[in-house]
Amino acid sequence: MIRQERMQIVRHKQLAENIFELTCIGQLVSEMKEPGQFVHVRVSDSYEPLLRRPISIASIDRETLEFTMIYRADGRGTTLLSRKQVGEELDVLGPLGHGFPLHHDEKGSTVLLVGGGIGVPPLYELSKRLNENGIQTIHVLGFLTESVVFYEEKFRALGETIVCTIDGSRGTKGFVTDAIEVLPANFQTYYACGPTPMLRALQHQMPTIPGFLSFEERMGCGIGACFACVCKTESLPDKEYVKICSDGPVFPAGVISL
Ligand SMILES: Cc1cc2nc3c(=O)[nH]c(=O)nc-3n(C[C@H](O)[C@H](O)[C@H](O)COP(=O)(O)OP(=O)(O)OC[C@H]3O[C@@H](n4cnc5c(N)ncnc54)[C@H](O)[C@@H]3O)c2cc1C
Ligand code: FES
Repeated sequence: MIRQERMQIVRHKQLAENIFELTCIGQLVSEMKEPGQFVHVRVSDSYEPLLRRPISIASIDRETLEFTMIYRADGRGTTLLSRKQVGEELDVLGPLGHGFPLHHDEKGSTVLLVGGGIGVPPLYELSKRLNENGIQTIHVLGFLTESVVFYEEKFRALGETIVCTIDGSRGTKGFVTDAIEVLPANFQTYYACGPTPMLRALQHQMPTIPGFLSFEERMGCGIGACFACVCKTESLPDKEYVKICSDGPVFPAGVISL
C-alpha cells in the first residue's frame, strides 16, 4: 500500500563527489516489498520546489524499519535534500511502482546486474535479495570517473564485481557494454538501471538474453495521475503507451520503445 509519512532521518553521509547516502526510519518501510521500487521525496517544507523527487530504494531493513537511498546532488531539489540533517523529518511518499521480478531465475543460476551512475542504487537491494534466493550475481557498474564511484565493496561482498569508468581512472576503461563484451556468457538473465542510452545499448548487445530494465524518466506525480512519464511501447499488443511511474519503472527488455 502506498502511504505518505514524515520519516526520521537516522543517517546521512557523503559517499563520493556529490553522491549521498540517506537512511530514514518509519512504518512506511513495512510496505516496501520489491527491489526497484522508488519513493517520491518532498525536499522542502515550503512549496518551492513544488514537485517531489523520485529516488530509488537502495536498501531495505524491515526489522529495523530503515531504508536507504543514494542520490546525486545535482539540481535544485537534490541539493536541498543534501542539506537535511540527521534527526530531521523527511516527507516520503511510497513505495511506488513495480520493481524487478525476484522469481524469474531458478536457484543456482547466475544473472548479470548492470548499473550506470545513479542507476546503481536499486541494484543493491536486488542483488541482496537474489543472493538470498540462491542466485549468483555478477555486477557491472559504470561511472563517469573515479571520484563518483560508490558501493564497490558492498557489491563485491555479494558477487563478482566489475567497475568501469569512462576515463579509465578506476577499473576497466570504457562503457559497461565494453566490460560485458569480454565477460564469459554464463548468465541467464540481465537486470539493468541507468540512463536510456545505456539501456538501449544493452538491449542491442544482448538481444537473445531475457532482460529487465528500470527507467528513470522525468516525473510529476509519481502515481499515474499526471501523464508526465508516458512512454511508447514496442511489443505490447494491447497497450500503445505506459506510465513509467505506475506501470514500471521496471519493464522486460523490448517492451519500451528505445
Ligand atoms: C524511478 C526513478 C528512480 C530514480 N532513482 C534515483 C536514485 O536512486 N538516485 C538519484 O540520484 N537519482 C534518481 N533518479 C533521478 C532523480 O529523480 C533526479 O536526478 C532528480 O529528480 C533531479 O532532481 P533535481 O532537483 O536535482 O533536479 P532539477 O533539475 O531541479 O529537477 C527538475 C525536475 O526534473 C525531474 N528530473 C530531473 N532529472 C531527472 C531524472 N534524471 N530522472 C527523473 N526525473 C528527473 C525532477 O524530479 C524534477 O521534477 C530517479 C528517477 C526516477 C524516475
Ligand atoms: S509521473 Fe505522473 S503519471 Fe507518471
